[in-house]
Amino acid sequence: MELKNNTILITGATSGIGLEMAKQLMNLDNTVIVTGRNKEKMESVKKMYPSLNVYPLDVTDVTSIHSLYDRLIKDFPKLNILINNAGLMKSIQFTSAKMEILTDEITTNLAGPILMTQTFLPHILRQKNSAILNVTSGIAYFPFDKAPLYSASKLGLHSYTQSLRKQLKKTNVKIFELAPPRTDKPMFSGSEEDNAQVDRIPQMPIEKVVQTMITGLKRDKLLILPGMSKLLRIIGKIQL
Ligand SMILES: NC(=O)c1ccc[n+]([C@@H]2O[C@H](COP(=O)([O-])OP(=O)(O)OC[C@H]3O[C@@H](n4cnc5c(N)ncnc54)[C@H](OP(=O)(O)O)[C@@H]3O)[C@@H](O)[C@H]2O)c1
Repeated sequence: MELKNNTILITGATSGIGLEMAKQLMNLDNTVIVTGRNKEKMESVKKMYPSLNVYPLDVTDVTSIHSLYDRLIKDFPKLNILINNAGLMKSIQFTSAKMEILTDEITTNLAGPILMTQTFLPHILRQKNSAILNVTSGIAYFPFDKAPLYSASKLGLHSYTQSLRKQLKKTNVKIFELAPPRTDKPMFSGSEEDNAQVDRIPQMPIEKVVQTMITGLKRDKLLILPGMSKLLRIIGKIQL
């Protein structure tokens, strides 16, 4: 797809991979809208990158999604690309985990992108060169037992992305998936022992993850698997 002169919305992009996507996509002459929840982080991003458009959004809250939609279709009627990037990861031990936190990752990482897609799809369907990209993870293909619900949420998002692609086959919207490997800004934080084990896994710089995403989008590669994620997908197919 053409990666110039688009209007791109990236959720959860006041830090990490989302912010790096925003910077690289802005450098390619796109209008970029980023969202966040934390006011201080949003203000500091706006200060550092005045050309970025920063809006509040909580993807677990339907009212917040609808109010963002109402504002964006007025402010950016040409919005043609949605990147569902917002996500969180928790270290969960089934023997001790509290019931209240068990659905957090499913709500943010899986229900969030589904609600965002359902809200923005009618608008995106009317645009040219349009696309939705869902950020899953290498862990979608090879579950990480220390973060079991994160793994489940990302596999769910992978499956949802495949169905969405099939249902929209006859439209002009392209449905992409980016499955990053562990990056140099890792999300996992668990016990000392778990952290030591995870620290042995190689890390890919987020700049490289995003460069791979951009090359993949330009080549219409619908499943983008940077670095280790390719291998995780192969191993995942043969595990019990
Ligand atoms: N880092 C890795 O190694 C890695 C590897 C594979 C996949 N990924 C995926 O890449 C994506 C970006 O992660 P990251 O590493 O860049 O992490 P990050 O820096 O922690 O960014 C996550 C973003 O998601 C936002 N977010 C969390 N809950 C939200 C909610 N309910 N509503 C709206 N926004 C919410 C956060 O916003 P606030 O700052 O406002 O909380 C933050 O901006 C995630 O989907 C993650 O699963 C990351």
